[in-house]
Amino acid sequence: MRRVRIFDTTLRDGEQSPGVALNHAQKIEIAHALARLGVDVIEAGFPITSDGDFECVRRISREVRGPTICGLARTARADIERAAQALESAARSRIHVFTSASTIQIEHMLRKTPEQVIEASVNAVRLAREYTDDVEFSGQDVMRADFDFVIRLYRAAIEAGATVVNIPDTVGYGTPQEYGALIARVRDEIVAGRDVAISTHCHDDLGMAVANSLAAVENGATQIECTVNGIGERAGNTALEEVVMAIHTRRDHYRAETGIHTRELFRVSRLVSRLTGMPVQPNKAVVGDNAFAHESGIHQDGVLKHKETYEIMNAELVGREAAVMVMGKHSGRAAFRKALADLGYVTDGAADHGLNDDAVNVLFARFKELADRKGQIYADDLRALVEAGSEVQQTFALDSLQVLSGTHVTPTATVRLVTPDGTKEAAATGDGPVAAAMNAISAATGITPELETYRLQSVTRGSEALGEVSAGVRYKGVTVMGIGLATDVVEASARAWLHAVNQIVAGQARVKSTVTAETP
Ligand code: KIV
Ligand code: ZN
Repeated sequence: MRRVRIFDTTLRDGEQSPGVALNHAQKIEIAHALARLGVDVIEAGFPITSDGDFECVRRISREVRGPTICGLARTARADIERAAQALESAARSRIHVFTSASTIQIEHMLRKTPEQVIEASVNAVRLAREYTDDVEFSGQDVMRADFDFVIRLYRAAIEAGATVVNIPDTVGYGTPQEYGALIARVRDEIVAGRDVAISTHCHDDLGMAVANSLAAVENGATQIECTVNGIGERAGNTALEEVVMAIHTRRDHYRAETGIHTRELFRVSRLVSRLTGMPVQPNKAVVGDNAFAHESGIHQDGVLKHKETYEIMNAELVGREAAVMVMGKHSGRAAFRKALADLGYVTDGAADHGLNDDAVNVLFARFKELADRKGQIYADDLRALVEAGSEVQQTFALDSLQVLSGTHVTPTATVRLVTPDGTKEAAATGDGPVAAAMNAISAATGITPELETYRLQSVTRGSEALGEVSAGVRYKGVTVMGIGLATDVVEASARAWLHAVNQIVAGQARVKSTVTAETP
């Protein structure tokens, strides 16, 4: 079995998804979850783009142990030095240098000749090697490039010291056959006999990212770049959970394995979906709601008689059904703690990023409240409860909410908040009960963000299900994602709004910065 390394770029390419802006606390939380998942490399950010990105890469380098921590850099000296500085405290660091390989990008974005691109790349790789022994090199848009030039460019990068050559299909143009053939050429013409890894980085514009990545593995790639839930620029990247489970389930075919703890997959998928506000489509492979649901009578009959009649992998393997199933208001603290542990949460608070006793007590109180209202509590409810309870210090806490709404009345909401200056009450109207509740909170806090995106989904099934609201808001040029959870959807919306307001007050809103193709 060959070992295929998983390079996760959720925090860098994934964060380039339109509308997504993760704050520091959220990025750190995802980085810890990725380490638990067992990824080999975390691309933590692009340090030159902003002080925020730099700080985040620096914190992840300092705190997260296990995976190699990687920072992205263009070929400019300033980029590489900034990345190296951010990665200083990582136990293992990698600098990922990129340029462009296609004629269209070289002419219109870089405005250089192909020879100048090679020269800049060689200098950049050499400089990066002064800071770390682990340097990855990428030329964007290889699938629309002249392949002879691609080979020359990558050969020069290897000779300059690149230890990983990444072949990005930046615009998702290649087919599996073409992409696989290029990877084979890279393997045979420039990598064979050297200690250099071939990496794949595919985008999903034509829905072929996963297939292309797997074609690369068949042709010699030993690293796959991917993101949780396949999020990323435009149609996104190769979905981590899909390539991992394809390699695992079809190891007879790929003769390869990854180091991923597959039972963590579902939890990480939910975490990323919740923090980014990007829903997972129900029929999404591996982590979608329906991925293990059998609807037709014939299928149900088959699965009841023998699971493997219609299942090629079992749900437990990807963390879908933990041993904890139903809990209720009579469940005690010990059972609650055990259920959390069964779901993979560290509850002794000793391990890095675990839940300490205070956090477990707060969660237990919320669990009791929820059990009173909802009756039975399922694994997904518990996950949602823990995830909603992490992060952000609460300057404003919801004490009570009353809403009046109907077909012939103006929706009106009254909120009472607990604030550092005592309780505050405010009332407001809105186009609907949700808008009225949000307006009332804004009146009470004096913070009036603009709602950009709103998503409501149920955490489990049935009319008693918990509703989870993600509200993407904008305030003074920054974007924040608020998340709220309650059995009542208006209350969940109010909690999401309040969560966003608390992040704004705590200074956790994040400005997304961009840079151009290449600095001169
Ligand atoms: O898609 C792409 O080309 C990239 C590079 C920075 C590797 O994300
Ligand atoms: Zn990309």
